[in-house]
Amino acid sequence: MHPLPYFPYVGQQMHVEDVAISDLAQHVPTPFYCYSSAAIATNYKRYSDAFSGLDSLICYAVKANSNQAILATLAQLGAGADTVSEGEIRRALAAGIKAEKIVFAGVGKSEQEIRYALEQGILQFNVESEPELERISQIASQMNTTARVSIRVNPDVEAKTHAKITTGKAENKFGINIDLAPTLYQKAASLPGIEVTGVDVHIGSQLIDLAPFDLAFAKVAELVNTLNAQGIHIKVIDIGGGLGINYGEHSDEPDIITYAQHAKQHLGNLGCKIIIEPGRSLVGNAGVLVSKVEYVKVGQVRTFLILDAAMNDLVRPSMYDAYHHIATVSKKAEQATYDIVGPVCETGDTFAKNRAIGQCEEGDLVAIMGAGAYGAVMASHYNSRLNAPEVLVKGQEYSIIRERIDFDALLAMDTIPSWL
Ligand code: LLP
Repeated sequence: MHPLPYFPYVGQQMHVEDVAISDLAQHVPTPFYCYSSAAIATNYKRYSDAFSGLDSLICYAVKANSNQAILATLAQLGAGADTVSEGEIRRALAAGIKAEKIVFAGVGKSEQEIRYALEQGILQFNVESEPELERISQIASQMNTTARVSIRVNPDVEAKTHAKITTGKAENKFGINIDLAPTLYQKAASLPGIEVTGVDVHIGSQLIDLAPFDLAFAKVAELVNTLNAQGIHIKVIDIGGGLGINYGEHSDEPDIITYAQHAKQHLGNLGCKIIIEPGRSLVGNAGVLVSKVEYVKVGQVRTFLILDAAMNDLVRPSMYDAYHHIATVSKKAEQATYDIVGPVCETGDTFAKNRAIGQCEEGDLVAIMGAGAYGAVMASHYNSRLNAPEVLVKGQEYSIIRERIDFDALLAMDTIPSWL
């Protein structure tokens, strides 16, 4: 899919649904995130269509974008939530996602978080280690309740994605080695306060090649058969997330239908409910970061486009060397090549090097595409910069779904001790 599928130019102006981004910028200070409700709905429908025919539940990976307006949009479409902290569970519940559609994953669940999740009656815990299983058993027993548990298995497959976001190799911190899993399942089945319901797998994020999924699903199917034969009845298979999107450097993106076919082929006849945990592929291309050109700086060897957005707003390029397509909000007749950078005092504060885009001048707006996932959620106040506000558009309507805090609020986050 084209990197701009949801942000077309109408005439000379980039639009999000029926709203011109340049009009939005009259009302919202840059840099700001801008999301399309219709894009999220279309992405969701692609999943629900692809997985139709399977008993399935799409649990949106809240970590990708946890704004409650985004969660509410997905809740209304029927999504559940994949969460990794008490904070995410609270956000999901507040946005109207029912506890019985919430899964709780993560390698470091605290006692407090486990207790909270049990009190809310969430659908299941995705358990990552033996000591975590013991902890959940203990807390559930104390509370006279039962925790539904899937064990996350590590299938030792190479996801062929960035090293920082690959999770399914033996050396990664995630899950239980799939070969050792049956032993842990036996133990889980014998523990008080635990009801073993499923198997969980997640091998990494931003996967472009589907072959690793195929491999992983085959291994999971084999495990489920083994467990069923041992009398441990598996009712749920959670296949994680990870489907990549086109950030503009690949000509195509993985085909969701083929992805679903892999799942159906390996897991479709095991009598299990299939949980899918997509994050990026639901919201990534539904959002852009809109930024203003502060300066065009002609250096000795390069020309820099200095934006008012920085690595604190969108860290992916500096953290993962991630490629994001960047386009001018008004179509330009001429092209020019720039290093596109932010104002933060680090060379790493670079969005793109040697990038050809429309020729810009001071005050022009640019859109950094594919910023709907792992953008706002990974932002910080580094360099004491205020947060980028977030805007959600639906048709002709738009709302600010997270305000920019002011400097008073920023300064009020710290306390100077009275004894200083
Ligand atoms: N399920 C589990 C257990 C996960 O760890 C993740 C992502 C997902 C689902 C959702 O994966 P997705 O469908 O979004 O690929 N900050 C990085 C990505 C980190 C992904 C972490 N886990 C980035 O900006 O690329």
